Amino acid sequence: MITKIFLLGVLGIVIALLLTTDYVQPIVNSFYSLLPFLSSSIIGTNVGKLLTKSELAQHNGKQGSSIYLAILGDVFDVSAGKRHYGEGGGYHFFTGKDATRAFVSGDFTDKGLIEDTDGLTHSDILGIEEWNEFYKSNYKHIGRVIGHFYDKNGMPTEAWRKFKDQLKDAKKNKMSEEDDRNMFPPCNFEYKQDWGRRLWCSTLSGGVKRDWAGVPRQYFQPGKSEPRCACVRDKGPPAGSEPSSVHSNRGDLDNPLMKLYEGCKENSFECFFKE
Ligand code: HEM
Repeated sequence: MITKIFLLGVLGIVIALLLTTDYVQPIVNSFYSLLPFLSSSIIGTNVGKLLTKSELAQHNGKQGSSIYLAILGDVFDVSAGKRHYGEGGGYHFFTGKDATRAFVSGDFTDKGLIEDTDGLTHSDILGIEEWNEFYKSNYKHIGRVIGHFYDKNGMPTEAWRKFKDQLKDAKKNKMSEEDDRNMFPPCNFEYKQDWGRRLWCSTLSGGVKRDWAGVPRQYFQPGKSEPRCACVRDKGPPAGSEPSSVHSNRGDLDNPLMKLYEGCKENSFECFFKE
C-alpha cells in the first residue's frame, strides 16, 4: 500500500515537471485554445474572434472602419445597417460596445449604455433575448467581447450564467401567464359616451378561442396588485378539473379569487357601468 502511494506521488511530480517543460507547454496551450471551441459546443454558438473592449471600440464606423456592436457579449458586424449605425445614424450609440441593457431600458446615455442585466423584468429579459436573435439572423456574428459575459478564453462568466437563469425564469413565467389566460380569458371591453363602460364575454374574448363564453368576474390573481376582468365558466366543473359528481356544476363561480362586479347580474355574460 505504502509503495503504491509512493509511486503515485512520484508520478504526480513527474507530470507536474513535464507540464512546465518547453516540449509540453505548446500542447497545454493548444488545449487552452480549444476551450472556446469546447464552450461553443456547450452553449451552442460559434465563438469566432475574441475581442477586448478597446478592440471592439475601434469598430465604430469612424474613418471607414467596419461597424460592430455587441449584445450579451456576442459581437456582430452591423456595417450592412450603416444607415442606422454609421456616424449620424439614429443608433450609432450602440456601436463599438456592448450595451445590452439599453436595448430594453431605452436609456441611451453613457450611464444607460451598459451590459449589466441586474434587476430587469421578465419581459425585459425576453426582449434582450429577442434582440440577440435579431442580430444572429440579420447580421454576421464576429465573435465575443472579453469582459462581462465572457472571460479571456471566451468562456461564459458568472454574469452570462445569471442571464441564462433570468431567461429560464422569464420563459417559465410567460408560460404560466399563458396558461392563466387560457384558463380565465380576459373580457372584451368597450366604452360609449351615452351608456358608459361595457365588459362582456364571448367565445373569443381575450383572443382565447374556446367553446364556452363564461361570465365576467373581477379576478384577484395572486401576485398581481390589481384585479383584472376574467371570463369564468358558469357551468360544468371548475377549470382544470374533470366532470365529476364532486363538483357542483357551477364552473368557477365559487372560486375565492373571483368576485362579482358590483351592479352586474350573477349569470349575465355582460356588465354595464354608467360613468
Ligand atoms: C428601447 C427603445 C428602442 C430601441 C432599443 C430601438 C432599437 C432599434 C435598432 C437597433 C434599430 C436598427 C435595427 C436594424 O439593425 O435593422 C431600430 C430601427 C428602427 N427603429 Fe428603433 N428602437 C427603439 C425605439 C424606437 C421607437 C420608439 C421608434 C419609433 C417611434 C423606433 C423606430 C425605428 C425605426 C423606424 C427603425 C428603422 C427600421 C428600418 O428602417 O429598417 N424605434 N431600432
